[in-house]
Amino acid sequence: MCGIVGYLGKKEAAAILLESLKRLEYRGYDSAGLCVVSPKGRFEIVRVVGKIVKLEERLKKSPVAGTLALGHSRWATHGRPSEENAHPHSDCTGNIVLVHNGIIENYLELKEGLLKKGHKFQSETDTEVIAHLFEEEMGIAAGSPKSHGRSIGKEARTWSDRAVLKMIARVSRRLKGAYALVVLCKLWGRKIVGVRKDCPLVVGVGEGEWFLASDMPALLPFTKEVIFIEEGETVILNEGIRPALYSFQGRPVRRATSQIPWDPLMAEKGGHKHFMHKEIHEAPRSFEDTLRGRVYEENLDSFLGEAGLSVAGARQIRRVQILACGTAYHSGLVAEYLFEKWTGLPCHAEIASEFRYKNRVIEPGTLVIAVSQSGETADTIAALRLARSHPGVTTLGIVNQIGSTLTRETAATLYTRCGPEIGVASTKAFLAQLAVFYLLSLALARAGGRVNPKEFQALGSELLRVPAALHSILAHIENLTLELAHELQDVKSFIYLGRHLFYPIALEGALKLKEISYIHAEGFAAGEMKHGPIALIELGTPVFAFALKNSSVYQKVRSNLEEVRARGAKIISVVHEKDHGLDALSHRVISIPAMSQEWFEPPLAALVTQLFAYHMAGVKGLDVDQPRNLAKSVTVE
Ligand code: M6R
Repeated sequence: MCGIVGYLGKKEAAAILLESLKRLEYRGYDSAGLCVVSPKGRFEIVRVVGKIVKLEERLKKSPVAGTLALGHSRWATHGRPSEENAHPHSDCTGNIVLVHNGIIENYLELKEGLLKKGHKFQSETDTEVIAHLFEEEMGIAAGSPKSHGRSIGKEARTWSDRAVLKMIARVSRRLKGAYALVVLCKLWGRKIVGVRKDCPLVVGVGEGEWFLASDMPALLPFTKEVIFIEEGETVILNEGIRPALYSFQGRPVRRATSQIPWDPLMAEKGGHKHFMHKEIHEAPRSFEDTLRGRVYEENLDSFLGEAGLSVAGARQIRRVQILACGTAYHSGLVAEYLFEKWTGLPCHAEIASEFRYKNRVIEPGTLVIAVSQSGETADTIAALRLARSHPGVTTLGIVNQIGSTLTRETAATLYTRCGPEIGVASTKAFLAQLAVFYLLSLALARAGGRVNPKEFQALGSELLRVPAALHSILAHIENLTLELAHELQDVKSFIYLGRHLFYPIALEGALKLKEISYIHAEGFAAGEMKHGPIALIELGTPVFAFALKNSSVYQKVRSNLEEVRARGAKIISVVHEKDHGLDALSHRVISIPAMSQEWFEPPLAALVTQLFAYHMAGVKGLDVDQPRNLAKSVTVE
């Protein structure tokens, strides 16, 4: 959560930071702020409640000039969204200014100690503690343990990188929790410092200018050349010299720059009203890109290699454990069906935040797969670390964000090739995660001899037909889903029903609707309705149901729908084109193309729910891309 940025160069920093922060707004958007160092060395701090546009308006009225700065977009954890709680935060002397992403777990204990020593706090945040710790530790370094209350700025001198590193090490030793920090200090001269522990941070390398950001989209308008900061590292940016990286112990670290393979236009709306709409429409393309060069026998070895496996290694796998949160978890639930069908391996998907506190038995020979669009989800990372502490496991990430934490925590990564996903609701990434699960389950099945070359070829060909089917859905259901949204916008509660492969799609459809349209929605396994949830049905309750004719449970779903219909439900059924079997039961029918096998249809059904949820939020006039209370990247537990 929270986006942090920094800039050191020759251009006006405020404009650059605003541009960067807008692209990080999906990480948090309840308040924002920046600090620009004026030509005279003054720290000009501006903070607002609300989105970056509010900060922009404030800066238009009262511009701040300077070419060294840091900024923040907040998702509140400690303290409500207010100007006082917005970042940046300072120490008592105003010499230290910093922005933070993450959570300081021992902040209360630290704060009590600091208050006793006379420190004065301006906010309710955990972050402010860090600024006061710097103040304390810098006082110690200057030979005066009680620096509080006087301006250490009066001792103006420029600190060496080594002295700064010592400070960082001292402060880090006292902090428990997760943090990425960008720090400025009047005593340090024209330096800007980034610190990373369990939260992402990346350096952008420009022409004589340096950028710091939580995520790559913030850098895309300025540079495609980046340096990833790893766990427990500090980066010091000085004018005119390359970024200097160090471990927390002060050891210099050498790291080459990497090129971001994303086009800056990928992070623009491209004529769509919202990122979410654009990203839904990009789904066929990202699905296809994710499959490219990875289907068929001739690519089997290299694909397994990408997954960190060989044919022999694949044969050693005894079970599959999937760890993920939210939408990514739902992709894992679909994968359970795929793995068990094609590979015969037991497969279990688990919500990462639950897995962390269970004593789940992880046997040797388990392939642990962590799935995440952002690659930064704290629960998924922690669950993965726990799983990999068991002997004999192999780890694999299915991740979209290049170079993100998960990609470095797993033995190998299979990337979804979606480009940036900016809308908070995950759409194209979900479908691309499914694409990877198709590839992986089929590859393991082929390596294990569970499917023969002919079957492998046929299944691969069918998989390659999915993008065209997605295209055709998008071409046909835009108006239908919009009309439905108009009709049902005042409904208070929705039910999504599916069985087998479409049960996870029912869960995902309900999640999508509730997170962006704020309508209560629940997904159920259709066969479970009679065990309780059917009590919710009353006259007019909308029930979104997946009843695809080639499904092994088509007739069962049909019966379940008869049961809810008999109790007054308004059924919106997703069926195959030309299947009129549910017309009489349904209030509305949405038809999608039939694949030759039901196994390839979950992505098609999911796309329908995404577009419906999108239109529902749009019709209700809600903030589709940045729904209330949410953030794109959940880096706190
Ligand atoms: O970045 P991740 O895929 O790890 O994120 C996991 C969830 O936070 C995410 O899928 C969330 O549920 C989305 N808002 C769903 O649209």
